[in-house]
Amino acid sequence: MGEQQGERRRLAVVSGGGTGIGAAVARGLVEDGFDVLVVGRRGDVLDAAARRIADECGRAGAVRAVTADLTDPEQLAAVLDAVDGRTVDAVVNNAGGYLGGPTGTLDEVAAWWRANLDANVLTAVLLTEALRPALRRPGGRVVLLSSIAAQRGGGGPYSAAKAALHGWAYDLAAQLGPEKITVNVVSPGYVAETEFFGDRMTPEGHAKRVAATLVGRAGTPDDIAAAVRYLVGPSAGYVTGQVLGVNGGSVFGR
Ligand SMILES: NC(=O)c1ccc[n+]([C@@H]2O[C@H](COP(=O)([O-])OP(=O)(O)OC[C@H]3O[C@@H](n4cnc5c(N)ncnc54)[C@H](OP(=O)(O)O)[C@@H]3O)[C@@H](O)[C@H]2O)c1
Repeated sequence: MGEQQGERRRLAVVSGGGTGIGAAVARGLVEDGFDVLVVGRRGDVLDAAARRIADECGRAGAVRAVTADLTDPEQLAAVLDAVDGRTVDAVVNNAGGYLGGPTGTLDEVAAWWRANLDANVLTAVLLTEALRPALRRPGGRVVLLSSIAAQRGGGGPYSAAKAALHGWAYDLAAQLGPEKITVNVVSPGYVAETEFFGDRMTPEGHAKRVAATLVGRAGTPDDIAAAVRYLVGPSAGYVTGQVLGVNGGSVFGR
């Protein structure tokens, strides 16, 4: 499973791969035979995740950590150094999150919006553009992690930033389709067991989100990772330009 077309093991780059959904994606892709680069700002968190996944999967060196703030174009050099000229089979743009802040003045409003656009859009755009020349042709995969907030609102600039990924994904899918590279969006609903909510989650907030699902539970990082594994896998070559909601039925497909 780890070899493709008699070449070296497939390579995936997962942003935000040190925690939550990204770590579950990284682990799942190692199980599927990929080598994985996990990218984030906190080297210690990435190193710990890389060690844990390699131990659990019994594949030393399967995951390597790359420390970079993906909102800063200059820091993409660290990712390219780690790729080291290899072909990239899959880019999973998972880094992001909701950033709060004061909104009393227009300057504060501007800072709040820029922070959310940077964290959720620019991180994906810069990583994908940096790796675009290295993508496997044919067969490369790009996945963008959006949110149910893009479809139903609820997060101000976070919702808007995630929605921006959808429009960009359609353009990118059209550009890369002729090279047999697919581009898709995974849009999670409420997922517990990640750092996303920090100390913002309350028992009431949790219960409300669970009640909004049709299946009566919170999502897990592995629920989302399963969708990503499908989209980057060999059986999804005819799926591109799509938004796959993984939300327990909280929002119907559209
Ligand atoms: N949990 C949910 O309910 C939920 C629902 C819908 C969508 N999502 C989306 O799913 C994705 C993963 O979220 P999660 O729930 O797993 O939360 P998480 O544990 O907070 O993961 C976010 C990851 O992104 C990384 N990151 C953030 N900004 C970055 C930057 N500028 N450069 C590089 N890495 C950066 C973080 O690492 P560092 O801090 O070390 O950089 C962290 O590992 C996010 O895009 C989130 O918006 C989550």
